[in-house]
Amino acid sequence: MNVNYDEIKKDLPSEQLIRLFMAAGWCKGEITQEQKENFNIGFRNSTYVVSAWEDNYLVGAIRVISDTIFRSVIYDLVVDPEYQNKGIGKELVRRCTSKYPNSEWLVQTTQEVYNYYEKLGFKVKEDVFLTKESKYF
Ligand SMILES: CC(C)(COP(=O)(O)OP(=O)(O)OC[C@H]1O[C@@H](n2cnc3c(N)ncnc32)[C@H](O)[C@@H]1OP(=O)(O)O)[C@@H](O)C(=O)NCCC(=O)NCCS
Repeated sequence: MNVNYDEIKKDLPSEQLIRLFMAAGWCKGEITQEQKENFNIGFRNSTYVVSAWEDNYLVGAIRVISDTIFRSVIYDLVVDPEYQNKGIGKELVRRCTSKYPNSEWLVQTTQEVYNYYEKLGFKVKEDVFLTKESKYF
C-alpha cells in the first residue's frame, strides 16, 4: 500500500467524497441531487485540506477552518474502512496541527470517536456547546 498525501487540492471529487463518507458511515441515508452536486463545497471553502490517496483512489480526508493563528476547527476526518488502522487518520490530523502549530484546536465529534482524539493529545472541554441546525447534515 502506497498512500500519498495532498495538502494543496481542496476541490476533491464529490463522487469520491460521497463514496468515502458512505463507506465510513460518516454520511448516512439518502443524498439529494443538490447535496450531491455541492458535496465538496465544505472542502473547497475550508482554510486547509489534506487528502490521502492510493493512486487516484481517495482513501482519507480532513478539513480545517482556521484563522491560522488562534483558533482552528477540524471537520470531516474520514478514512476508508479498508485503509483504517494504518495510521492514515493520525497522519491527517498531524499534518493539520503542524500547519498551525500555535493554534487552539477544536473538534466536535461523537461518543464513539472522542477517545481517538484523546489519544492524539486532545482534551475534552466542559464548555457549553450551542448550535443552530443546518438545513443539510
Ligand atoms: C476515526 C478514524 C478517522 C480513524 O482513522 P484511522 O486511519 O483508522 O486511524 P489511525 O490508523 O490513525 O489510528 C488507529 C488507532 O486509533 C484507534 N482508534 C480507531 N478508531 C478509534 C475510536 N473510534 N476510538 C478510539 N480509538 C480508535 C485504533 O485502535 C488505533 O490505535 P493504536 O494505534 O493504539 O493501535 C476512522 O476510524 C474513521 O474514518 N471513522 C469514521 C468517521 C469518523 O468517525 N470520523 C471522525 C470525524 S470527527
